[in-house]
Amino acid sequence: MAKLDIVTYPDLLLTNKSEPILNITADTHKLIQDMADTMYSFAGVGLAAIQVGISQQVIIYDHLTQDNNKNFQAIINPEIIEQHGVQTSEKEGCLSLPDLRTDVKRFKTVSVKGLNAEGKPITIDAEGLLAVILQHEIEHLNGILLVDKISALKRNIYKRKTLKNLARG
Ligand code: CO
Repeated sequence: MAKLDIVTYPDLLLTNKSEPILNITADTHKLIQDMADTMYSFAGVGLAAIQVGISQQVIIYDHLTQDNNKNFQAIINPEIIEQHGVQTSEKEGCLSLPDLRTDVKRFKTVSVKGLNAEGKPITIDAEGLLAVILQHEIEHLNGILLVDKISALKRNIYKRKTLKNLARG
């Protein structure tokens, strides 16, 4: 068990584009396990490696956290290969954006290809919440945050509030 610190807005690291993983090593497996420990400790449903300060293309998710089975899935070098329809995710949140909740327009279904933790090619066909999580986490790998999806006015208010809270410490 290793719970890692979450990188939070406005840390510029979160705007980095993550690098593809060329060799899956013991370090990759440790990273994935630590990410899972971290995600569960914050009751999150998804996490990207950049959120624990590692600029590598790894995401994990568990959209069934309510069932108490900690069956998370990792995807290395994930890529959306198909996307269809429209849905609005209600009050979407992010562990890197404390106190921000916003509705976001998302594709209704996505197909994501990548590698599992063992390096085997996988394709995940997702809809509903899982499709939202995958789009959200893959955006992290491209340096995109929920805060980029709200109006400039709301973003400024959120940024000011966050900086004030940081200053208070
Ligand atoms: Co997030």
